[in-house]
Amino acid sequence: MNAGGTAGGSVPPSGAAGEMPPLVRTPVPSPDPRDELPVSDPLPFERPATPEPVLGPTGRPLPDLPEPRPLTSHGHARVISMCNQKGGVGKTTTTINLGASLAEYGRKVLLVDFDPQGSLSVGLGLNPHEMELTIYNLLMERDVEVSEVVVKTGVEGMDLLPSNIDLSAAEVQLVHEVAREQTLQRVLAPALEHYDVILIDCQPSLGLLTVNALTASDGVIVPLECEYFALRGVALLKTTIDKVRERLNPKLEIDGVLGTMYDGRTLHSREVMERLVQAWGDTVFHTVIRRTVKFSDSTVAGEPITTYASSSSGADAYRQLAKEVLARWPDA
Ligand SMILES: Nc1ncnc2c1ncn2[C@@H]1O[C@H](COP(=O)(O)OP(=O)(O)O)[C@@H](O)[C@H]1O
Ligand SMILES: [Mg+2]
Repeated sequence: MNAGGTAGGSVPPSGAAGEMPPLVRTPVPSPDPRDELPVSDPLPFERPATPEPVLGPTGRPLPDLPEPRPLTSHGHARVISMCNQKGGVGKTTTTINLGASLAEYGRKVLLVDFDPQGSLSVGLGLNPHEMELTIYNLLMERDVEVSEVVVKTGVEGMDLLPSNIDLSAAEVQLVHEVAREQTLQRVLAPALEHYDVILIDCQPSLGLLTVNALTASDGVIVPLECEYFALRGVALLKTTIDKVRERLNPKLEIDGVLGTMYDGRTLHSREVMERLVQAWGDTVFHTVIRRTVKFSDSTVAGEPITTYASSSSGADAYRQLAKEVLARWPDA
């Protein structure tokens, strides 16, 4: 502290003659270069931002999806085929996890394993060698009823029609049946009144089993891996869907195309999504399923990701898909 309160202690004591006053540096403020710049229009990033819509991974603004309304009664199931003739694109994973998410929203769900590989059944913890009755018996034996074949899953409100390798024989035997394309539709009919949604997990082919699934369905969901080669073959799938609609099932619609195994860090995934939206427009779901090992882990555990890793981003993605799907369906 300075006596007298002089600031900074810079006043020299007057001293002996000839003594040079000590050099006192008064700080000269250096000019601020910004002061000399003319005031111009604000730079683009300084302009007050008009709120930009948040773009989702498909490059379109994300919609605000409504919470699904609770149902007071059940029945009049909407039947959906999970279809793509390419294997390993996420059909089975989507069937299990969309089904489980719809069940979380209070929907009564029946999953139909319509692939002789039986991955859906195994993915829900069933042993393919220990099944008494499968969808094969339901298709081929006239005295077997759907209620005898249905099994409960670990998810409340979600049942399963299981399958194993026996189903591959059905594809051959059905060829000789009358109304062979309508066989699944006929055997599923009694189940419609007990469920809100029936999801059919198709095999990776466009053969007679898949045509049966499409004939029994109101809608199709096409899971597509976010990978360039995945886009090839979609035209053929669309032709098959169009033919089934024209010849066998006029009500058949494409409910949506779902990007799976998406990796937002790669330009490739983003480009594939862009191409998909160019080709299919709003048929493409806003929800995409990212690539994560949690899906394989939950398959090994024999349960959906919604219970295996309930708070994971994969589980949330399928809940989001369930909301989007319900928002697209009339009266759902
Ligand atoms: N989003 C994903 N991220 C990572 N792996 C996935 C994803 N979806 C599925 N998988 C895995 O990829 C494999 C093929 O998936 P799956 O659903 O069986 O395809 P499909 O039924 O079309 O043949 C499975 O091992 C599955 O666990
Ligand atoms: Mg599969």
